[in-house]
Amino acid sequence: MKQSDTRSVAERIEALRHEIDQHNYHYYVEDAPRISDAEYDRLMNELIALEEAHPDLITPYSPTQRVGAAPASAFGSVRHAVMMRSLANAFDPEDVEAFDKRVSDALKGAGLLAARGDVDYMAELKFDGLAVSLRYEQGQLVQAATRGDGQTGEDITANVRTVRSVPLRLRGKDIPDVLEVRGEMLMTRRDFERLNAQQQQRREKIFVNPRNAAAGSLRQLDPRVTASRPLRFFAYGWGEIRLRRKDGQVDLFQQEAGDADMPRDTHSGMLEWIGELGLPVSDLRRRVKGLKGLLGYYEDISERRAELPFEIDGVVYKVDSLAAQDVLGYVARAPRYAVAHKFPAQEETTVVLDIDVQVGRTGALTPVARLKPVFVGGVTVTNATLHNEDEIRRKNIFIGDTVIVRRAGDVIPEVVASIPELRPENARAFTMPRACPVCGSAVERLEDEAATRCTGGLFCAAQRKQSITHAAGRKALDIEGLGEKLVDQLVESGRVQSLADLFTLNVLELSAYERMGRKSAENLVKAIDKARRPELSRLLFALGIRHVGETTAHDLAQHFGSLEAVMDADEEALLGVRDVGPVVAGSIRRFFAEPHNREIVRALQAAGVQPVHEAAPQSGSLPLAGKTLVLTGTLPTWTRDEATRHIMAAGGKVSGSVSKKTAYVVAGEEAGSKLEKARSLGVTVLDEDGLKALLGL
Ligand code: IVH
Repeated sequence: MKQSDTRSVAERIEALRHEIDQHNYHYYVEDAPRISDAEYDRLMNELIALEEAHPDLITPYSPTQRVGAAPASAFGSVRHAVMMRSLANAFDPEDVEAFDKRVSDALKGAGLLAARGDVDYMAELKFDGLAVSLRYEQGQLVQAATRGDGQTGEDITANVRTVRSVPLRLRGKDIPDVLEVRGEMLMTRRDFERLNAQQQQRREKIFVNPRNAAAGSLRQLDPRVTASRPLRFFAYGWGEIRLRRKDGQVDLFQQEAGDADMPRDTHSGMLEWIGELGLPVSDLRRRVKGLKGLLGYYEDISERRAELPFEIDGVVYKVDSLAAQDVLGYVARAPRYAVAHKFPAQEETTVVLDIDVQVGRTGALTPVARLKPVFVGGVTVTNATLHNEDEIRRKNIFIGDTVIVRRAGDVIPEVVASIPELRPENARAFTMPRACPVCGSAVERLEDEAATRCTGGLFCAAQRKQSITHAAGRKALDIEGLGEKLVDQLVESGRVQSLADLFTLNVLELSAYERMGRKSAENLVKAIDKARRPELSRLLFALGIRHVGETTAHDLAQHFGSLEAVMDADEEALLGVRDVGPVVAGSIRRFFAEPHNREIVRALQAAGVQPVHEAAPQSGSLPLAGKTLVLTGTLPTWTRDEATRHIMAAGGKVSGSVSKKTAYVVAGEEAGSKLEKARSLGVTVLDEDGLKALLGL
């Protein structure tokens, strides 16, 4: 081959590498791809082909070299040039106030601050992942290490090289001789869920949370496995830095060396510089002033926490001026110039004291873990549903086990996993009872169902209580003042055997029940009386027919116009109702074929319950006929139920998730991911006024 050919091949290879690096940056760091995946693949394939033909031209920083190294048998150790420290924690505003006071006093004493309350801080997210240190020499990634004990970590270079948001080469003109970037490796929630779904399919290890998934992925001995795991990196600091001076000398800077000429003189400036070199730095960092600024940032981020694509466990405050950081120095292993302001933990460990079984409205037996009280996600949790037998088996939970309990945001607390290593000798496996714990009837588990059910029907007091509580609920007959406690008493005393019995209650007898004054008894009787004229859809929903939710009840009412018509409809007629399939139709048929249920309806009618007949079909003329809407966030004046009712009355449907078929998304304050999804799919977004306009209100 002629020399000039080799040169042009080498140039083409370099050009391709440069182009691919650029696209990696746009894609992984800026989150703004500029070419299609297919085009990217074409560039990559061309580079692979050229390098295969010219193996002598392969360099370690080539984008083809992200994966390739053979699995390691163990990780080597790396001594950090500059120690990787940890942070002191603050748990409440008082701790933060004390931090700010300590900082202000020290800086005032050193003549670096005129007045208290004026300290400039850098506020950042506290990423819930794994700390890593990336070492670049002459602009090339040469080493990556875990934090380890702070002095010595593990060499995870081969694995980190597979992470696309970590550049293999720095960008820009003034590349430092040495740069150690410190930051966090993490996995987004969505990627974590996807990974777990995949793991489950392959019958492989399920990860407890994104942090564990990230840690597990980074600690793979085979980098090819790490390459298949979607990890992300965010830079928040640095270790050793050596800059080449104009006279050709090399200057050594270390975070702790206190040199006057760092590349920038503030922490925020340094992060910007690190960003300019091509490393991802979170946009949610902010410069703030004084205690007020710190607490304002905390509030702001707390509110946005649930919408973030990844998990954070707090925020971090750092004195911005590097000179001031230097004055403040370190105490033990943590800097005095920084503090982590933690959110209340969303995960804690506790002990399963026992597993009870509750019987639901439809007879489903639900195992519930009784937990040693634990403060998690801002509340004390004492029990958590375990859903069903399979779930207990899948999570390997024994009575007596230490378990991880999670409560994120307003989500119901759940037992995430057990820690079998801590299982005591006297731990017991859970077995589903063979008889209903409430009424003693046999239980059955149908083949295609996860739930075990009591076969007692309305003979079972638990089912009776709950079906009455359901019927009295806001979305059904809306009987104010008929709470769970009173229903328990009414059923237990035998006075109320079925829904119809409610309508025969009088003030005198009601006042005899616990915690019922005459006044509340009178109010309750009034509320019950009002419930004698419910909308047909509410009455249908109140009956508690399996698979008949609010929306189906509404569709049935619209379609048939009267209770009798629904009761007499055969399967074919039921299948004519929109969105009613064979399962729902079968369930409705079976419900009304049951003499006992017809008897209850007759008794209701005898007690004067007469549904208001809703306007029959002509749904074509309704403003939202055939349209599906999604509600998200808090609307200014309507509750979610009210908005739903208005939408349904206008012929529309409300769904919980946004898809291309969604006609409108109605967004209120603190709308979350549904709003984002709507925007990405180009679905029209309305506010409450926009919805009212559509409804002609
Ligand atoms: S700074 C000298 N900033 O928190 C201070 N740490 O307990 C070094 N972390 O191991 C840490 N987000 O893994 C810093 N914005 C952030 C952070 C952060 C998460 C983690 C990091 C470290 C631990 C400190």
